[in-house]
Amino acid sequence: MTSETSRGTALEALYEERRTFPPPPEFAKTANVRDRQVYDRAAQDLEGFWAEQAGTLEWVKPFTKVLSWNAPYAKWFEDGTLNVSVNCLDRHVRAGRGNKVAYYWEGEPGDSRAITFRELLEETARCANALKELGVRKGDRVAIYMPMIPELPTAMLACARIGAPFTVVFGGFSAEALAGRIRDSEAKVLITADGGYRKGNIVPLKKNADDAVAQSSSVEKVLVARRTGHEVPWTAGRDVWWPELVGKQKAECVPEAVDAEHMLYLLYTSGTTAKPKGIVHTSAGYLVGTAATHKMIFDIKEDDVYWCAADIGWVTGHSYIVFGPLANGTTGVMYEGTPDFPDKDRWWQIVEKYKVSVLYCAPTAIRTFMKWGPEHPAKHDMRSLRLLGSVGEPINPEAWLWYHETIGGGRCPVVDTWWMTETGMILITPLPGITTLKPGSATFPFPGVGADVVDEDGRSVPLGGAGYLVLTRPWPAMLRGIYKDDKRYRDTYWSRFEGRFFAGDGAKRDEGGYFWLMGRVDDVMKVSGHRISTTEVESSLVSHPAVAEAAVIGREDPITGQAIFAFVTLRGGSDGGDGLSSELREHVVGKIGSIARPKTIMFTPELPKTRSGKIMRRLLRDIANGQPLGDTTTLADATVVETIRAASAQGRDDA
Ligand code: PRX
Repeated sequence: MTSETSRGTALEALYEERRTFPPPPEFAKTANVRDRQVYDRAAQDLEGFWAEQAGTLEWVKPFTKVLSWNAPYAKWFEDGTLNVSVNCLDRHVRAGRGNKVAYYWEGEPGDSRAITFRELLEETARCANALKELGVRKGDRVAIYMPMIPELPTAMLACARIGAPFTVVFGGFSAEALAGRIRDSEAKVLITADGGYRKGNIVPLKKNADDAVAQSSSVEKVLVARRTGHEVPWTAGRDVWWPELVGKQKAECVPEAVDAEHMLYLLYTSGTTAKPKGIVHTSAGYLVGTAATHKMIFDIKEDDVYWCAADIGWVTGHSYIVFGPLANGTTGVMYEGTPDFPDKDRWWQIVEKYKVSVLYCAPTAIRTFMKWGPEHPAKHDMRSLRLLGSVGEPINPEAWLWYHETIGGGRCPVVDTWWMTETGMILITPLPGITTLKPGSATFPFPGVGADVVDEDGRSVPLGGAGYLVLTRPWPAMLRGIYKDDKRYRDTYWSRFEGRFFAGDGAKRDEGGYFWLMGRVDDVMKVSGHRISTTEVESSLVSHPAVAEAAVIGREDPITGQAIFAFVTLRGGSDGGDGLSSELREHVVGKIGSIARPKTIMFTPELPKTRSGKIMRRLLRDIANGQPLGDTTTLADATVVETIRAASAQGRDDA
């Protein structure tokens, strides 16, 4: 038995003791939030609470009105104007923090850079001027498809500086996924890079970008940052090198004062239908919400070195690598590559090198580190760490305890933070100086946040019970809709329970009122913390000529939380040989990207359907997870499941 497994068992036993972790007294003494009154204050005067937070920002025209709530649309600070990039950069430089490091950037091959707030401001201004030269005006959309290099936050800030909403598309997405987002947002300019590094290889971003632009009509110019230096395809007249165009610009750019409710960005996320939803986030409320939560939940101090290890392509990176931390003038770490390049201790080497004090990452990463073993972190001095965070999916108590012990040395509070692309900011979370933690629980709603657990009929479930998580009050960073689709916005989030936001998550509350998140209740899978819609993967499978029908579910996976399990029915004449299952896998990668690659593909002559023809994914889930089958009485043909079940013993699992 390895030390890893013996430790795992010990931790499991601890969990059965229902251990709780009160704030360490030393931590509590200096914590940013020390007084539980904060909850009452926000509950009694929601607007006053948020107005106070908003007062810490720099406004061009101060707001007089805090909230107008015309459900399901909120406006926050609506008569105020400001500029987001000024709040993230200029005001810190003016306050004498120009030489403070904004980002310690670490490239995967081992190169690194420290970028100060002044340098980031100057490059942002140059990039903003370059965008203007390319014809971008206030309100025009800009698409961004980049690796984790400093030019990525720079590009986002530059867009914010001139009031051009941006949409960042994760660098791991395929050309086709990028094209769909460009088309929906009608982006005028695309910002990309020659490539990026991942596991020692070059990711051909520029080629994907070209393929995407070929499938859309709105993009006029492509601005290309240099990262790998390899040769890339080039379209003269359309493509422009960043070093050439941005490099020659002035390092000042007068910021555009925008309305509080001006769109800051769109971020596309998976839902239960094939088309990704363009989640709309606006300027002031979003910045107020992300800055306040960042400061209070991560207990940010002037000298902290804060590392959120997400990719900026996801909402976690938007809110907690870029906007929240920069608004607070925080020194951050940004890492380009994977945790096991060149070795499995890369993260811990980074923690030691930069003396990281606050680390924020996902349970899937923590479980991977558990699997790799404690010897990797043990090689490094990580005493600089004082607070740990988790996000993206439920963290199992065993992983929580391992994180607390092995990474945090038993001294760092662990904040398990629940939120979504749609919420923009963390909503259910401990406040580390006052909350007694329970491993696996995201604990309580943030001050001012209204969260409830309800049954099918929308009745609040008493403590001790489980149901659907809903949000009952508006919050400043909430989405302002789905881009160009009011109906879908109302249908998806606001129609299931009148007047309340339906998150799509199951939750229970224990007798102490602690929230325990229980995963998605809709057909959205969570693979390594990323939201992937079953429908999207199914559509991409069915677009292969050999496939007649496909049903996809998330199967429990010890590392990635869920792994994609695809049931595929072939068209007549095709047989499901090994060659075909890997071909289908690559087909999905081509359509969506490598995050959506099915781990297991099972060929089956038929799929279980109701009499009305709806695929019963619930049964497929039970089969894939090896669980007893639930109710099968609504099946059109009950023998189908038995056939699948018999075949499932041989499901191909070779990703
Ligand atoms: O199911 C919940 C899960 O992630 C979903 C939102 O995914 P996304 O929009 O990609 O944003 C992830 C990062 C904010 C939620 O509906 N989720 C997120 N955080 C937690 C979580 N589930 C349990 N515990 C969490 N802390």
